[in-house]
Amino acid sequence: MTYSEGMLRDDAMKGKNIIVTGGGTGLGRAMSTYFLQLGAQVLITSRREEVLKESAAEMEKESGGKVFYFACDVRDYEQVENMVKYAEEQMGQIHGLLNNAAGNFISPTERLSNRAFDTIVDIVLKGTYNCTLAVGKNWIEKKQQGVFLNIVTTYAWTGSGYVVPSAAAKAGVLAITRSLAVEWAKYGIRSNAIAPGPFPTEGAWSRLLPGELVKKFDPAKKVPVGRVGVHQELANLAAYMMSDFSAYVNGDVITIDGGEWLKGAGEFNNLEMVTEDMWDMMEGMRKKK
Ligand code: HXC
Ligand code: NAP
Repeated sequence: MTYSEGMLRDDAMKGKNIIVTGGGTGLGRAMSTYFLQLGAQVLITSRREEVLKESAAEMEKESGGKVFYFACDVRDYEQVENMVKYAEEQMGQIHGLLNNAAGNFISPTERLSNRAFDTIVDIVLKGTYNCTLAVGKNWIEKKQQGVFLNIVTTYAWTGSGYVVPSAAAKAGVLAITRSLAVEWAKYGIRSNAIAPGPFPTEGAWSRLLPGELVKKFDPAKKVPVGRVGVHQELANLAAYMMSDFSAYVNGDVITIDGGEWLKGAGEFNNLEMVTEDMWDMMEGMRKKK
């Protein structure tokens, strides 16, 4: 068995109806496809209807499951409410919301316009609280239990230069995750997050590491396990977090990054550049003393 295989048993999400924002591309699509393989119904939503339509058809073919789609800009609360209403009409009771939609670009912060800052914060933070509020109010009113799963990044807690709007917004999403884990637990609503390290997707790679940048800043080189993530590994974790198997996990953020952020955090971690000969020499000097 390997990490690129599905992990949970076939019926692990049978009867679950899940909304996935940004579910037509990249990681959202990979997680949605695995939910479908495990027996869930999924509604994918994002701005581009053509992308959703094409992805939904392909995902149904790949998984044998049922996929609904609804075009919606998560920045607009009215559109979000309509999306949730449609999801319920088509699938019935909603059991989970995966807040995965995001926007990001790399830039020195002083080069960003205030509108550029707004664009990212609005998609990531406002989009997440819009969807969370619309679905959460619905669950509470109808006395239904549910699960929120939010995709953040490891720089949600460290911060990071050159992606400041994204870092600020993801930190806000993490705060929402932890706050509601406590406040809404009394309604049977759990709230967790996943912080992925580098997982190649068209969306992230083309915007964050365009052209030659990807060769210069090879993300795999920053990861202690020596590779980037495979989509199925993230899908396995997301399915567990969305399923009833994780019923006692609430308010946590699970990092899946091969140790990447800790490598950057440990003050002496770059001593991996010291060769065995150099260590021998230093040991010799110490013993002589
Ligand atoms: C600086 C930029 C910019 C850039 C746009 N803007 N691109 N500023 N650098 N590269 C500015 C524009 O000039 C404009 O400001 C404002 O931002 C809005 O631009 P629009 O193009 O009108 O925005 P919109 O059409 O809403 O597009 C949103 C987007 C786009 C974020 C710009 O990239 C997008 O749709 N992204 C979604 C997918 C994505 O980004 N996926 C990556 C997620 S990866 P002015 O002032 O000119 O009006 C991730 C974590 C990665 O989040 C971690 C990796 C390890
Ligand atoms: P992606 O394919 O570009 O996904 C972003 C999705 O968000 C797209 O489907 C996009 O669809 C949707 N979206 C953007 N703006 C929207 C809006 N206003 N309303 C509704 N939907 C919107 O990138 P990805 O790499 O899979 O990223 C998925 C998630 O993983 C993001 O939360 C990202 O921050 C996180 N992440 C990724 C990595 C990585 O290495 N890939 C690492 C850490 C975290 P439309 O354009 O059709 O709207």
